[in-house]
Amino acid sequence: MLASGSGTNLQALLDDSSPDWSVVGVVSDRPHVQALERALAAGIPGVVVDWSDFQDRDEFTDAIADAAAAFEPNYIVLAGFMRILGEAAIHRFRHRIINIHPSLLPAFKGGRAIRDAIEYGVKTTGVTVHFVDEELDHGPIICQEAVEVMPSDDEATLHARIQRVEHRLLPAVVQSLALGQLEVVGRKVEGRVSP
Ligand code: GRF
Repeated sequence: MLASGSGTNLQALLDDSSPDWSVVGVVSDRPHVQALERALAAGIPGVVVDWSDFQDRDEFTDAIADAAAAFEPNYIVLAGFMRILGEAAIHRFRHRIINIHPSLLPAFKGGRAIRDAIEYGVKTTGVTVHFVDEELDHGPIICQEAVEVMPSDDEATLHARIQRVEHRLLPAVVQSLALGQLEVVGRKVEGRVSP
């Protein structure tokens, strides 16, 4: 898993034990983040590739990819990883990197998805899990679930409800990947995610 912050999605995977998959390592672009503490507590190795040590984005994301590859993962899960991977890193793990995004893509791409949805005044937003391609928040969509926006919502309350959905969807997607139930065909993902 690649993470930059609190790591609640990592925790959801750590808590969802399955005989079919396991989290083998965590790579963070920043030291001292809660995601690394969660990994440590679960006995999972964590590695920091500090973005502030790099001048060049491609060199940085190549180093991230090297650190991830060292764990020999079948899949890489981006959960709250706040950096954009370069093309070389994406090609290296083609259709083997997934991302969880807090909106119904293609609406509200980018790092302010929840705030943007509230400011736009949408009544429904949600969660998208998708394969990562070269464009930001763009790759083939694996699954989506709607979340209602309440009139009283601020960013924190809406994010909390969105995260409850994320913590259920992400383990389900990982399980489907582990069982080989998903296939990318052009822009579409064929197969099903078990509830
Ligand atoms: C999640 O809400 C995810 O949608 C977004 O970043 C957040 C990460 O949360 N990409 P956490 O670090 O897993 O708690």
